[in-house]
Formats: sequence, structure tokens, C-alpha cells
Amino acid sequence: MLQNQWDTSLYEGKHAFVWKYGEELLQLLSAQPEEHILDVGCGTGQLTAKIADAGAIVMGIDADVMMVEKARQNYPQLKFLVADARDFQVNEPFDAVFSNATLHWIPEANAVIRCIYQALKPGGRFVAEFGGKGNIQAIAEAVYDVVRNIGLQSPEHLNPWYFPSISEYATCLEQQGFEVRYAVLFDRPTTLEDGDAGLANWIRMFGERFLSGLSVEQQSRVIHAVEQRLKPVLYQNGIWRADYRRIRVVAVKNDMSI
Ligand code: BEZ
Repeated sequence: MLQNQWDTSLYEGKHAFVWKYGEELLQLLSAQPEEHILDVGCGTGQLTAKIADAGAIVMGIDADVMMVEKARQNYPQLKFLVADARDFQVNEPFDAVFSNATLHWIPEANAVIRCIYQALKPGGRFVAEFGGKGNIQAIAEAVYDVVRNIGLQSPEHLNPWYFPSISEYATCLEQQGFEVRYAVLFDRPTTLEDGDAGLANWIRMFGERFLSGLSVEQQSRVIHAVEQRLKPVLYQNGIWRADYRRIRVVAVKNDMSI
């Protein structure tokens, strides 16, 4: 969310699974009419709009200016702002904060949790899903090996992701004053759109850090080598499935008045 300047058309066209899977999380949120709900990392706004469809009064924030512009174009009736999840404040606290497929981009989890806590009313809930411990392990290891082979030292250090375990994340939430009501870590193999090109699209969109210093030709070679390594484990019948593993949490801001 913070470091990336994403191509919004590629995101909407070939990575629609990002918000399609997020619909399950909406059930956990269970937005009620007239509730005020903040969507952190709203992207191009599809899930924010679904929350609004339930009758809630929504606001979406995202650090990526292009995403926010696209969200405004997609849903001009809704409110979207550019904001950094690690450092934002709201004028009026919300009944709930929702976040799908964003928090794995922000290693500064405590700063994010602090802002979310401050953005909630006492008794308000935080409902989130993102990559958990072990997420995309096969993809990451294949990319590391391949770029190491072409001379890049310690590619792990380029890793922009934060994939915590349940205990690690629940501890951060509790230290901030949240009560953790639900936390689960589960495998969610995820079909990448566009058939044979699915993994290449994914790497270009989400793993561009590992490719950025390379020539176009080197990039293609890296992607091809990663595909060859992963074919036996992540490819079947013309479909790539990424080895996603999600952490899902529901936490409530302690109501100090009780
Ligand atoms: C994920 O949704 O799990 C994810 C997306 C991009 C990069 C890494 C993980």
C-alpha cells in the first residue's frame, strides 16, 4: 500500500480476486444501516461500495493516489481520501474499521493498530484480513533463488511484506487495548487470472521490487525461471494457484465507560 505505485487497470482487470475474496470478510463485518465504517486500504473501492450497499456510511482511505482517484471515478457518491495507514487521524470516530488485503504491505503494524484504535468509538470493532505467516512461501522462495542466481545478494531484504502469526498480531492488538474476539490463520490457494500468464502478471504487479533493477530481458528470464520452478506445485490444467495463507481477525476496542 505504501511503496507501490500500482497500475489501476492491471489491478482491476487481472487482480479482481483481491476484492472478490474479500466479500467473505464482509460477512464477518456485518455492516449495519447507518453505521460509520472506515475501509483502510480501499484500493479502487469495490469493497467500500459493498459496505455502503448494506446501508453504512463509509469512507475509504488508501496511500496510493491513483487508487483513490479510480475509486472516486468508480463510486463518485462515496468518500475516498489519500491517507497513510500508519499516520492518520479522523474527525469523528467510526463504529468499525475494515481492511482487506492491505496490512501485509505495512511492516509498521503497531503504528497502524494505534491509528485504527484511535479511529474507533469505544466498543467499535476492527475486522481485517491479510497475508499471514507462511503466505506465498513457495513463490517467495522461488523468486529469491532465481534472483540470487543472477547475482542479487540477499533478496530477502527487498521483501516488502509483513506476514505475522496469530500470536504476534494478537499480541500487538492487545498491547494497544483491543480485545481479540476472533483470529484464524488458514490456507487459501488463490487462482490467478489470465491462465498461463497468471503468475507472470502477479510477479509484475506485486513483486516488482525484485525486478526493478533488471533489464526487460532479465525480467522475462527471471519470470520464466520462477514459472519453471513453481509449475510442479502451483500450476494445473492451465491455471496458476498462488499459495496464499490468510490471517483474519476481529478485535474490539475496550469500552472504558463499562
Ligand atoms: C497477498 O494478498 O497475500 C499478497 C499480495 C501481494 C503480495 C504478497 C501477498
